[in-house]
Amino acid sequence: MTLILDGLTKAYGGLKVVDGVSLAIPENGMTGIIGPNGAGKSTLFSLVTGFIEADAGSVRLGETQLDRLPAHARAQAGMVRTFQVPREYTHLSVRENLAAAAPGQTGESLAGLFLRPARVREEERALAARIDGVLAFLKLDPVADLAASSLSGGQKKLLELGRALMTGARLILLDEPFAGVNPVLVEQLSARIRELHARGTGFLIIEHDLGALSRLVSTMHVMDRGRVIASGAPAAVLADRQVREAYLGGTVGGDAA
Ligand SMILES: Nc1ncnc2c1ncn2[C@@H]1O[C@H](COP(=O)(O)OP(=O)(O)O)[C@@H](O)[C@H]1O
Ligand SMILES: [Mg+2]
Repeated sequence: MTLILDGLTKAYGGLKVVDGVSLAIPENGMTGIIGPNGAGKSTLFSLVTGFIEADAGSVRLGETQLDRLPAHARAQAGMVRTFQVPREYTHLSVRENLAAAAPGQTGESLAGLFLRPARVREEERALAARIDGVLAFLKLDPVADLAASSLSGGQKKLLELGRALMTGARLILLDEPFAGVNPVLVEQLSARIRELHARGTGFLIIEHDLGALSRLVSTMHVMDRGRVIASGAPAAVLADRQVREAYLGGTVGGDAA
Protein backbone atom coordinates (compact mmCIF):
# COMPACT_ATOMS: atom_id res chain seq x y z
CA MET A 1 0.00 0.00 0.00
CA THR A 2 0.96 3.59 -0.47
CA LEU A 3 0.44 6.90 1.30
CA ILE A 4 -0.77 9.31 -1.37
CA LEU A 5 -0.57 13.08 -0.87
CA ASP A 6 -2.37 15.01 -3.57
CA GLY A 7 -2.00 18.79 -3.82
CA LEU A 8 -1.74 19.39 -0.06
CA THR A 9 -1.83 23.11 0.67
CA LYS A 10 -1.80 25.19 3.86
CA ALA A 11 -1.47 28.95 4.18
CA TYR A 12 -0.85 31.11 7.26
CA GLY A 13 -1.71 34.77 6.84
CA GLY A 14 -1.74 34.48 3.06
CA LEU A 15 1.63 32.71 2.89
CA LYS A 16 1.45 29.17 1.54
CA VAL A 17 3.78 27.27 3.87
CA VAL A 18 2.79 23.98 2.17
CA ASP A 19 2.04 24.63 -1.48
CA GLY A 20 0.50 21.87 -3.56
CA VAL A 21 2.56 18.92 -2.32
CA SER A 22 1.88 15.66 -4.16
CA LEU A 23 3.88 12.59 -3.14
CA ALA A 24 3.53 8.81 -3.15
CA ILE A 25 5.17 7.29 -0.06
CA PRO A 26 5.47 3.49 -0.01
CA GLU A 27 3.92 2.31 3.25
CA ASN A 28 6.72 -0.15 3.99
CA GLY A 29 9.53 1.99 2.58
CA MET A 30 12.29 4.19 4.01
CA THR A 31 11.75 7.72 2.79
CA GLY A 32 13.40 10.98 3.83
CA ILE A 33 12.26 14.59 3.69
CA ILE A 34 14.87 17.36 3.85
CA GLY A 35 14.86 21.09 3.31
CA PRO A 36 15.91 24.33 4.98
CA ASN A 37 14.26 25.60 8.16
CA GLY A 38 10.79 26.95 7.46
CA ALA A 39 10.38 24.90 4.26
CA GLY A 40 7.09 23.47 5.56
CA LYS A 41 8.25 19.96 6.52
CA SER A 42 6.70 19.78 9.99
CA THR A 43 3.52 21.42 8.72
CA LEU A 44 3.32 18.73 6.04
CA PHE A 45 3.46 16.06 8.79
CA SER A 46 0.67 17.85 10.66
CA LEU A 47 -1.49 17.89 7.52
CA VAL A 48 -0.83 14.22 6.78
CA THR A 49 -1.56 13.02 10.32
CA GLY A 50 -4.58 15.28 10.87
CA PHE A 51 -3.17 17.61 13.54
CA ILE A 52 -4.09 20.57 11.35
CA GLU A 53 -6.62 20.87 8.55
CA ALA A 54 -5.50 21.42 4.96
CA ASP A 55 -6.82 24.33 2.89
CA ALA A 56 -6.76 22.10 -0.18
CA GLY A 57 -5.61 18.67 -1.30
CA SER A 58 -6.13 15.16 0.01
CA VAL A 59 -4.43 12.32 1.87
CA ARG A 60 -5.07 8.65 1.22
CA LEU A 61 -3.53 5.59 2.93
CA GLY A 62 -4.07 2.67 0.60
CA GLU A 63 -7.80 2.67 -0.10
CA THR A 64 -8.66 4.78 2.95
CA GLN A 65 -9.42 8.45 2.34
CA LEU A 66 -8.14 10.23 5.46
CA ASP A 67 -9.18 13.85 4.92
CA ARG A 68 -12.26 13.82 7.11
CA LEU A 69 -10.65 11.71 9.85
CA PRO A 70 -9.22 13.23 13.07
CA ALA A 71 -5.67 12.41 14.16
CA HIS A 72 -6.62 9.46 16.42
CA ALA A 73 -8.57 7.82 13.59
CA ARG A 74 -5.62 8.24 11.22
CA ALA A 75 -3.47 6.57 13.89
CA GLN A 76 -5.97 3.70 14.01
CA ALA A 77 -5.66 3.46 10.22
CA GLY A 78 -1.99 2.62 10.81
CA MET A 79 -0.05 5.87 10.60
CA VAL A 80 1.45 7.90 13.48
CA ARG A 81 3.94 10.72 13.86
CA THR A 82 6.48 11.92 16.39
CA PHE A 83 7.14 15.60 17.11
CA GLN A 84 10.26 17.68 16.54
CA VAL A 85 10.08 18.59 20.24
CA PRO A 86 9.23 15.38 22.16
CA ARG A 87 5.77 15.46 23.74
CA GLU A 88 6.19 12.88 26.46
CA TYR A 89 4.14 13.11 29.65
CA THR A 90 6.91 14.50 31.82
CA HIS A 91 5.35 13.52 35.17
CA LEU A 92 4.74 9.90 34.13
CA SER A 93 7.41 7.19 34.12
CA VAL A 94 8.85 5.84 30.89
CA ARG A 95 6.77 2.67 31.34
CA GLU A 96 3.58 4.69 31.96
CA ASN A 97 4.27 6.79 28.86
CA LEU A 98 4.41 3.62 26.77
CA ALA A 99 1.20 2.31 28.37
CA ALA A 100 -0.59 5.59 27.61
CA ALA A 101 0.34 5.28 23.93
CA ALA A 102 -1.25 1.83 23.54
CA PRO A 103 -4.63 1.69 21.78
CA GLY A 104 -7.74 1.49 23.99
CA GLN A 105 -8.02 -1.38 26.47
CA THR A 106 -11.25 -3.04 27.61
CA GLY A 107 -10.49 -2.09 31.23
CA GLU A 108 -10.62 1.59 30.34
CA SER A 109 -14.41 1.40 30.32
CA LEU A 110 -16.02 0.74 33.69
CA ALA A 111 -18.45 -1.71 32.10
CA GLY A 112 -15.54 -3.71 30.73
CA LEU A 113 -14.03 -3.88 34.19
CA PHE A 114 -17.19 -5.41 35.73
CA LEU A 115 -18.31 -7.56 32.85
CA ARG A 116 -15.04 -9.06 31.72
CA PRO A 117 -12.50 -9.10 34.57
CA ALA A 118 -10.71 -12.13 33.15
CA ARG A 119 -10.35 -10.50 29.76
CA VAL A 120 -9.14 -7.27 31.35
CA ARG A 121 -6.47 -9.15 33.33
CA GLU A 122 -5.41 -10.96 30.17
CA GLU A 123 -5.14 -7.66 28.26
CA GLU A 124 -3.13 -6.13 31.09
CA ARG A 125 -0.68 -9.04 31.01
CA ALA A 126 -0.37 -8.74 27.22
CA LEU A 127 0.16 -4.97 27.48
CA ALA A 128 2.84 -5.36 30.16
CA ALA A 129 4.62 -7.91 27.97
CA ARG A 130 4.52 -5.59 24.96
CA ILE A 131 5.86 -2.71 27.05
CA ASP A 132 8.70 -4.92 28.33
CA GLY A 133 9.46 -5.87 24.72
CA VAL A 134 9.62 -2.24 23.56
CA LEU A 135 11.72 -1.23 26.62
CA ALA A 136 14.24 -3.99 25.89
CA PHE A 137 14.28 -3.30 22.15
CA LEU A 138 15.08 0.39 22.74
CA LYS A 139 17.41 -0.38 25.68
CA LEU A 140 15.27 1.81 27.90
CA ASP A 141 14.71 -0.93 30.50
CA PRO A 142 17.23 0.58 32.97
CA VAL A 143 15.18 3.81 33.07
CA ALA A 144 11.71 2.23 32.81
CA ASP A 145 10.51 3.52 36.17
CA LEU A 146 12.11 6.97 36.06
CA ALA A 147 10.06 10.07 35.25
CA ALA A 148 10.22 10.84 31.52
CA SER A 149 11.36 14.37 32.41
CA SER A 150 14.62 12.96 33.80
CA LEU A 151 15.69 11.36 30.49
CA SER A 152 18.47 12.76 28.28
CA GLY A 153 17.52 14.34 24.95
CA GLY A 154 18.47 11.16 23.10
CA GLN A 155 16.53 8.93 25.49
CA LYS A 156 13.46 11.13 24.96
CA LYS A 157 13.77 10.51 21.22
CA LEU A 158 13.93 6.77 21.91
CA LEU A 159 10.82 7.08 24.07
CA GLU A 160 9.08 8.94 21.22
CA LEU A 161 9.87 6.03 18.92
CA GLY A 162 8.68 3.63 21.62
CA ARG A 163 5.36 5.46 21.93
CA ALA A 164 4.93 5.21 18.14
CA LEU A 165 5.72 1.48 18.31
CA MET A 166 3.09 0.93 21.02
CA THR A 167 0.36 2.07 18.61
CA GLY A 168 1.19 -0.80 16.26
CA ALA A 169 1.37 1.62 13.31
CA ARG A 170 2.60 0.27 9.97
CA LEU A 171 3.93 3.67 8.89
CA ILE A 172 5.79 5.94 11.33
CA LEU A 173 6.56 9.59 10.59
CA LEU A 174 9.60 10.85 12.50
CA ASP A 175 10.21 14.62 12.78
CA GLU A 176 13.96 15.21 13.29
CA PRO A 177 14.64 12.06 15.34
CA PHE A 178 18.38 12.86 15.53
CA ALA A 179 18.17 16.53 16.53
CA GLY A 180 20.11 17.11 19.75
CA VAL A 181 21.06 13.43 19.96
CA ASN A 182 24.71 12.46 20.49
CA PRO A 183 26.40 10.51 17.65
CA VAL A 184 26.47 7.20 19.55
CA LEU A 185 22.72 7.37 20.19
CA VAL A 186 22.10 8.46 16.56
CA GLU A 187 23.69 5.16 15.47
CA GLN A 188 21.64 3.24 18.05
CA LEU A 189 18.41 4.90 16.91
CA SER A 190 19.32 4.25 13.26
CA ALA A 191 19.96 0.60 13.99
CA ARG A 192 16.55 0.23 15.71
CA ILE A 193 14.82 1.97 12.77
CA ARG A 194 16.59 -0.36 10.30
CA GLU A 195 15.55 -3.39 12.33
CA LEU A 196 11.92 -2.28 12.45
CA HIS A 197 11.97 -1.63 8.72
CA ALA A 198 13.35 -5.11 8.09
CA ARG A 199 10.36 -6.45 10.04
CA GLY A 200 7.91 -4.51 7.84
CA THR A 201 7.39 -1.07 9.40
CA GLY A 202 7.64 1.87 7.01
CA PHE A 203 9.25 5.20 7.89
CA LEU A 204 8.97 8.75 6.59
CA ILE A 205 11.72 10.80 8.23
CA ILE A 206 12.36 14.56 8.38
CA GLU A 207 16.00 15.10 9.32
CA HIS A 208 18.75 17.73 9.13
CA ASP A 209 21.57 15.22 9.71
CA LEU A 210 21.91 14.47 6.02
CA GLY A 211 24.71 11.97 6.51
CA ALA A 212 22.76 9.80 8.94
CA LEU A 213 19.57 10.16 6.87
CA SER A 214 21.37 9.19 3.64
CA ARG A 215 22.54 5.96 5.23
CA LEU A 216 18.97 5.15 6.25
CA VAL A 217 16.61 6.00 3.39
CA SER A 218 16.35 4.87 -0.22
CA THR A 219 14.48 7.95 -1.44
CA MET A 220 14.63 11.61 -0.41
CA HIS A 221 12.23 14.43 -1.17
CA VAL A 222 13.46 18.00 -0.84
CA MET A 223 11.13 20.80 0.24
CA ASP A 224 11.79 24.49 -0.20
CA ARG A 225 9.26 27.24 0.49
CA GLY A 226 6.37 24.80 0.69
CA ARG A 227 7.11 22.92 -2.51
CA VAL A 228 8.86 19.67 -3.38
CA ILE A 229 11.84 20.75 -5.51
CA ALA A 230 13.64 17.42 -5.94
CA SER A 231 13.14 13.69 -5.35
CA GLY A 232 15.34 10.66 -5.82
CA ALA A 233 18.15 8.56 -4.38
CA PRO A 234 20.06 10.40 -1.59
CA ALA A 235 23.36 10.79 -3.49
CA ALA A 236 21.66 12.19 -6.59
CA VAL A 237 19.42 14.53 -4.61
CA LEU A 238 22.28 15.92 -2.52
CA ALA A 239 24.34 16.56 -5.66
CA ASP A 240 21.48 18.51 -7.29
CA ARG A 241 22.38 22.16 -7.90
CA GLN A 242 18.88 23.43 -7.11
CA VAL A 243 18.95 21.53 -3.81
CA ARG A 244 22.36 22.97 -2.89
CA GLU A 245 21.11 26.46 -3.67
CA ALA A 246 18.06 25.96 -1.46
CA TYR A 247 20.44 25.59 1.47
CA LEU A 248 22.44 28.76 2.21
CA GLY A 249 25.99 28.54 0.94
CA GLY A 250 25.33 25.40 -1.07
CA THR A 251 27.13 23.27 1.50
CA VAL A 252 24.43 20.60 1.65
CA GLY A 253 25.79 17.11 1.46
CA GLY A 254 29.24 18.09 2.72
CA ASP A 255 28.77 15.70 5.62
CA ALA A 256 26.80 13.14 3.65
CA ALA A 257 29.57 11.33 1.78
N1 LIG B 1 0.66 27.74 13.40
C1 LIG B 1 1.36 28.54 12.58
N2 LIG B 1 1.00 29.83 12.38
C2 LIG B 1 1.70 30.63 11.57
N3 LIG B 1 2.78 30.24 10.87
C3 LIG B 1 3.20 28.98 11.03
C4 LIG B 1 2.52 28.06 11.88
N4 LIG B 1 3.16 26.87 11.83
C5 LIG B 1 4.19 27.04 10.99
N5 LIG B 1 4.22 28.30 10.51
C6 LIG B 1 5.20 28.84 9.55
O1 LIG B 1 5.20 27.99 8.43
C7 LIG B 1 6.51 27.86 7.90
C8 LIG B 1 6.89 26.39 7.84
O2 LIG B 1 7.09 25.89 9.15
P1 LIG B 1 7.48 24.39 9.44
O3 LIG B 1 6.50 23.50 8.78
O4 LIG B 1 7.66 24.25 10.90
O5 LIG B 1 8.88 24.29 8.67
P2 LIG B 1 10.05 23.21 8.81
O6 LIG B 1 9.57 22.08 9.65
O7 LIG B 1 10.38 22.83 7.41
O8 LIG B 1 11.20 23.95 9.45
C9 LIG B 1 7.43 28.68 8.79
O9 LIG B 1 7.64 29.93 8.19
C10 LIG B 1 6.63 28.82 10.07
O10 LIG B 1 6.95 30.00 10.74
MG1 LIG C 1 10.24 21.29 11.43
